[in-house]
Amino acid sequence: MTFNPLRERGIPLDRQLRNWRELNVTPIDPDHADPYTRCRIITMNGIETEAVFFSHHLARHCPDTEIRQQLARVRYIEAQQQKAVNWLLPGLASVLETTLAYEQVAVDLTAWVARMEPDAYLQQAYQFGVLEDFDHLYRYANLYEMIEHRKAEKIVDQLTEVMPGRPTMMHHRDPMDNVREPYDRNNTAPISKLHALTIMAAEQQTMNFYMNVGPMYMEPIARQLYQEIGLIEEEHVTHYESLVDPGESWWEMLLNHEYNECYLYHSFMETESDPKVKSIWELHLNMELEHLRLAAELFKRFDGREPEQVCAPELPAPVTFEPNKAYLRELIATQIDYTTLGTGYVQEAHERFEKMQEALMGGEKPPSERVIDDNRARSGHEYRLQTEGEHPVQSLALNR
Ligand SMILES: [Fe+2]
Ligand SMILES: [Fe+2]
Ligand SMILES: [Fe+2]
Ligand SMILES: [Fe+2]
Repeated sequence: MTFNPLRERGIPLDRQLRNWRELNVTPIDPDHADPYTRCRIITMNGIETEAVFFSHHLARHCPDTEIRQQLARVRYIEAQQQKAVNWLLPGLASVLETTLAYEQVAVDLTAWVARMEPDAYLQQAYQFGVLEDFDHLYRYANLYEMIEHRKAEKIVDQLTEVMPGRPTMMHHRDPMDNVREPYDRNNTAPISKLHALTIMAAEQQTMNFYMNVGPMYMEPIARQLYQEIGLIEEEHVTHYESLVDPGESWWEMLLNHEYNECYLYHSFMETESDPKVKSIWELHLNMELEHLRLAAELFKRFDGREPEQVCAPELPAPVTFEPNKAYLRELIATQIDYTTLGTGYVQEAHERFEKMQEALMGGEKPPSERVIDDNRARSGHEYRLQTEGEHPVQSLALNR
């Protein structure tokens, strides 16, 4: 069944506003929900947050009051969608539990995107990044065991393994080396544009989350670990946003944003296991179809092209949350020692990398290393969840 969102009719904009009762969604059950339902909620919260902020930036560059009024109307609906989506998360979950879920999203969403990405340079960017969020999950899982006395499998279940990836201390690169080459908007496959927007939005929301929740902890190691990983999420946003062609006009960017929202709500509607959550994906898809139509009107008027010239003629295969264990193990075995130099990748610690490491670390262990030492000292072991056997890199194996 092909689905072309540019041809579908959605809910008219003046019928999209919801009252308090309609916004008062029932949260998912923290103990029995499908972990991937929580991952879809977190992903869509990141997408809606990006929709709101992108629209604000566009409005700040837009001299026409009438257009700014239309942007404000659509943006208010995006803000309501963000509330409905993020309020599906239960208040019972701790900040650290939500953090583990954010890193699970980063791992399984980025791995899936890497597997599906047709462009080799873009694929390399996702493969590079996913090994870092994979390691963050391991560091936070040890913090979780140490301060909440619980195991990360309570959150990730058996779907995502928890063990070292590229060690977090090696993620601190000179900021110059976090900038990649963008795709070419005229030649890249439409799916590549959608992938880049999705991962950029997901990483941006993780960055925002750590910025704000890090200082809510009392424990010094927790405060420090959030600072360290928070700075790496800044690197990740730089890395992924630089993949998007900055030569796209504002209207083309708006069109791509709305198309991507349609794509993701449609994907999650097709793959959702929780019927109540599924009905929200379906409702929001029907809202996004109208946002897309309005964006397409603006694109035709100000960019002078047809939306079909830049968008896919039908929705690509649905974005799917599923385990990526074998794929991740393969990447760990082959790319764990990669770093970046300029817009490319190398396997040696070059001068600029060493300089950054020295400036940040000054010969001392960073929080991401101390959290493992501390948990070993307190719990008698470090926390891992290796469902598929021993770690693929011998020096990182438990029984080495
Ligand atoms: Fe939206
Ligand atoms: Fe991360
Ligand atoms: Fe990240
Ligand atoms: Fe939208």
